[in-house]
Amino acid sequence: MGKLDDRIAVITGGGSGIGEATARLLVAEGAQVVIVDIDDKNGRRVAADLGARSVFRHTDVSDPAQVEAMVKFSVERFGRLDVLFNNAFATRMGPVGEISIEDWHKTISVTLSGVFYGMRFALPQMVAQGGGVIVNTASISGLAGDYGAGAYNAAKAGVVNLTRSAAIEYARKNIRVNAVCPGMVETPAVLNTFIGQSRNPQKVRKLNEECHPIGRMGKPEEIAKVVLFLACDDSSFMTGSMVVADGGVTAHTGLTGHPLR
Ligand SMILES: NC(=O)c1ccc[n+]([C@@H]2O[C@H](COP(=O)([O-])OP(=O)(O)OC[C@H]3O[C@@H](n4cnc5c(N)ncnc54)[C@H](O)[C@@H]3O)[C@@H](O)[C@H]2O)c1
Repeated sequence: MGKLDDRIAVITGGGSGIGEATARLLVAEGAQVVIVDIDDKNGRRVAADLGARSVFRHTDVSDPAQVEAMVKFSVERFGRLDVLFNNAFATRMGPVGEISIEDWHKTISVTLSGVFYGMRFALPQMVAQGGGVIVNTASISGLAGDYGAGAYNAAKAGVVNLTRSAAIEYARKNIRVNAVCPGMVETPAVLNTFIGQSRNPQKVRKLNEECHPIGRMGKPEEIAKVVLFLACDDSSFMTGSMVVADGGVTAHTGLTGHPLR
């Protein structure tokens, strides 16, 4: 028996990284999943791999009309919507005093508004059907600041508090809303872009490994397990929680000059 037998889950950004690993785990635990992505090639690849328990739906989460249509499609196809994993993101880097207005809006519209739209259109369905679970991907970057990532930091901090608002508003409707806050995870976004496109990928990779007290970055499958926990009944008394999975990064003050280190 799986932890999510016959539950219907929608996963945004399901074509890659944490979303893909979560889709695979949720299906292994008995769920049927709608893979939502703007990357048709990867979204279809994951859905095809998962077979009859999975379907791909092209959706840009920054477009409320598309998100509304995606929720409608999922409910028409499967009859209900038990789990929504709001996980897609986009980010443009730049110091607060330099980032372009366009890059700011791009980051906020996908990474924060996309999460809002998902909840906005899924919650009425979950209320109508008598319950549901929402998991949002926040980040440790929603709990503190990073260099050159002000828009992302603001978007993820927004996800953190929006998660709390929805959690308390819908707690008596049998709907739980939690967020996962990963540290650096070895996904295509990190390996190909953040590290891969840096001036010195080897050095940046090492720095990112070493800033985690555990000595390495996380793996998508390790975050997927946290999402599964939040999505299934094992976390039945949890709502409004930010679950940090970061190899110890946020346990550290950030001061690196300690003599015993
Ligand atoms: N990888 C990390 O280190 C890390 C750390 C903390 C938080 N996160 C968060 O985890 C989540 C997943 O990131 P990942 O590292 O797996 O990235 P990823 O790039 O591997 O996957 C992201 C997916 O989102 C899709 N996507 C982008 N814009 C979209 C849009 N407008 N509509 C629909 N889909 C869209 C992409 O096509 C891609 O398939 C994000 O919310 C990210 O902020 C990642």
